[in-house]
Amino acid sequence: MLIACQETAKQQDDLSSQTPAEQGASLYSMHCAQCHGEDGKLGASGARDLSTSKLSDQDILHIIKKGKGAMPSMKALLETDQNINLVLSHIKGLRR
Ligand code: HEC
Repeated sequence: MLIACQETAKQQDDLSSQTPAEQGASLYSMHCAQCHGEDGKLGASGARDLSTSKLSDQDILHIIKKGKGAMPSMKALLETDQNINLVLSHIKGLRR
């Protein structure tokens, strides 16, 4: 568990060398994919399928910051509004 945490911290440090799209994808893999899956469709712990989500940017930002049902707030993990916006762009790219 400790090792996993250290790796996450390291990955987050490495983000500065990535493009914004890559940063969004990395942040999503680190913080969202365990419930939503890399493609958004996993649905673990009752998570919604992000590829069919029709929510507005405003609603998505609200859910990321405040959480909803079994989804905890992701604000502390994502750290900055900039990171939150990168993840927002990434998950909208998962829509078909
Ligand atoms: C612990 C598991 C878990 C994690 C981690 C998680 N989610 Fe969720 N997510 C859920 C669950 C459960 C729901 C359904 C909430 C409900 O409607 O009751 C959900 C719903 C959502 C929705 C609403 C989709 C819709 O159309 O209703 C969005 C958007 C979303 N998550 C984005 C994210 C993002 C972005 C991250 C990472 C920053 C993330 N989630 C991390 C479990 C998780």
